[in-house]
Amino acid sequence: MEKLNDYLCRYKGCIFATHMLQEENIDCLQNFEIRDRDIVLVTYPKSGTIWTQNIIMLICESDSTGETEFTNNLEKMPWLEYPQGHSDYSSRASPRSFTSHLRPLLMPPGLKDKKAKIVYVARNPKDVAVSYFHFCHAWTNFETPKSFEEFLQQFLAGDVNGSSWFDHIREWHTNRDEYNILFLTYEDMIMDLRSAVGKISRFLGRDLDEAALSRVVEKATFKNMKKDPKANYEFVPAEMIQGAYMRKGTVGDWKNTFTVAQNEMFDRIYQEKMKDLPFKFIWDIH
Ligand code: A3P
Repeated sequence: MEKLNDYLCRYKGCIFATHMLQEENIDCLQNFEIRDRDIVLVTYPKSGTIWTQNIIMLICESDSTGETEFTNNLEKMPWLEYPQGHSDYSSRASPRSFTSHLRPLLMPPGLKDKKAKIVYVARNPKDVAVSYFHFCHAWTNFETPKSFEEFLQQFLAGDVNGSSWFDHIREWHTNRDEYNILFLTYEDMIMDLRSAVGKISRFLGRDLDEAALSRVVEKATFKNMKKDPKANYEFVPAEMIQGAYMRKGTVGDWKNTFTVAQNEMFDRIYQEKMKDLPFKFIWDIH
């Protein structure tokens, strides 16, 4: 592990928050046994992770009472790379569900057998940057940025927990054929939550009837999820977070934060880094 500053380190080419990284947890993923029925949610930070986690859990529990030994979505869909307290994943019944911010090279190789399912959610990087900036103020062990300008420079350089947004999105998209993967965007989910829930449920092999679909959609709205103690992450202790995971939940909040100059700089860097990718994202088009 290479220490970059008081908060960040580099390990195997990826940037982590030093207080969260344990090298052995990353290393052991290379021998982690993936089961055919496993589900893994992969996101870059601040892209709708806890929202999609909740949707996946609601879908998986749609034909049961939802009562399990686990009290919240973090326990139900734990992190592959941060297994503290939940480390004995091998004793879990299938289908198991996991969450990860990792790039493909650090993932369990068994995912390439293409049987386990990966749901990948991407979000407009401008909104990710703003959401991340606010989160850095809330998460007590992250460095508090002095200004949005300072944070934006770090974000664009990839000097944040989770590495570069550009590398994350590029690697997952260009390696997509190696995995059984469903790509979604946060913007798709905001525009038409019902259709996004339908897509996820069909991908997971749980085609919900209209009534079940409506129940999932209703519980996954920002307003209702914010009231749900299993899903809203208010269970994270106050010494770790001074604020909310569920902040605004909107598309285009970057317009309230970026200056014209920051937007122009962002667009220049975005175009340069993304120019050879053979596809467009919803935020490129609108
Ligand atoms: P904002 O900070 O823009 O509000 P992650 O879970 O990857 O950390 O992402 C957090 C972002 O997802 C936050 O964005 C949060 O408000 C948003 N979010 C969480 N639940 C949501 C929901 N049900 N609907 C819309 N956005 C949601």
